[in-house]
This record gives sequence, C-alpha cells and structure tokens, in this order.
Amino acid sequence: MLSRDDVFSELGIGPVWRLRATPASPLTADAPPAYTWDTLTDAVAHCTACKLSATRTQGVLGAGDRNADWLIIGEAPGVEEDAQGEPFVGTAGKLLDAMLASIGLARGDNVYITNVLKSHPPGNRNPEPDEVAACRPYLLAQIELIQPKLILALGRFAAQSLLDTDETVEHLRGRVHAFQGVPLVVTYHPAYLLRKLTDKARAWEDLCLARRTFNSLTPDS
Ligand code: URA
Repeated sequence: MLSRDDVFSELGIGPVWRLRATPASPLTADAPPAYTWDTLTDAVAHCTACKLSATRTQGVLGAGDRNADWLIIGEAPGVEEDAQGEPFVGTAGKLLDAMLASIGLARGDNVYITNVLKSHPPGNRNPEPDEVAACRPYLLAQIELIQPKLILALGRFAAQSLLDTDETVEHLRGRVHAFQGVPLVVTYHPAYLLRKLTDKARAWEDLCLARRTFNSLTPDS
C-alpha cells in the first residue's frame, strides 16, 4: 500500500510539511503567532488591522468542526454573514451546502468554513491587497489549529491569495496544488456559479477531484 508521502509524491506535492503547534513554526517567514481558538476568536473580534474594521458589523472568523479534515476557504463575508457572524449563510451559502452534500459532506461535520477576509468589504467590493495581508495571520492560525487534510479554495481571491499567483480559476482548477504541504483544490465560487450556471459541470469535476484526492490520502474514508 502506498504511504501518505508516496501519495503526495504521486500528486506532485512535496515535501510534506506540517506546522507545529507551539512555539510558532520557523518553517515560513510569515508563520502565525501561536494562537489558541480563544485568543484567535478574541483577536478577530477586536481586530483593527485594516480599514474594514471601521465599516464591518463584526469579524467573521469561521464556522464548523475545529478538528475538520476539510477546510473550505471563500473570499469575504457578505452582508448576511456580516450581520449573522457566520460564513456562507446567504444564497451562495445554500449552493455551497449543496456542493458539499454532492460529495457526501455537511457543514460542521468534518468540515470547517472560513474566508480569506474576516471582515465584510463595503458594497461587497473586491478585497484589497492590504486587507488580504492584514487578515493572513488569522487564516494561517486557523490552518495551524485545524490541521486540515484538504483545502478547497472557492473562487479567484481564495485561490490566488493562497497560491500566491495571479492565474485565473480556469487555469488553477483541475489539478491538486499544495498550501504548506496540505493538498489544495481550486473551484469556482458559489456566487459566481449562481451567475454562470454553465460552469456548474466544471465545479462538479473539481469537487470529484477533491473527493478523490481526499480518499487517496485517507484510504479508510
Ligand atoms: N461569499 C464568500 O466568499 N464568503 C461568505 O462567507 C459569503 C459569501
């Protein structure tokens, strides 16, 4: 039977590095401070690191199973998420739930959902580079705390900021990337799919790729 490292190597991912819990890992220059869930929740709730803190209702850290194998990363809280304090609770969230269900997953059950930005950009405008940079330590801390087995990046902003590229979703989807040693699959953002129904078939292919990749990493699943 192939070892986990063999599977990563087959997928063209490697070497496999996992961030250590404490002290902060020296593996990357931008390793996050060693947050606990409590300190991270507090930090996001009171964050004033970027201008969005002046207009948001509340910071939206994320929701779901904190020991999840699957980490879903979107762009930023919308109006409803800003009001309710939970990611993907609006129309795009309903489609996300359906996408997850199509590969046997459910919000909160071995799945954690978050966004690149923890604060709602006014008018749902695109995140700006300084905002993405200011929020990055929170996302890194979440990844360190959760230790997911697979990351699903939803849409251009999540994919580009995680993979540090300006390639389009069209170019990034259809293959397995890695973020700090964790396999990462890119697919379309559900809000985009609501506008562009014809890309739903491609999104389904991406979800199947994510499911296959996950199953190959965890043969018992
Ligand atoms: N779009 C996102 O990217 N995230 C949300 O939480 C809601 C809509």
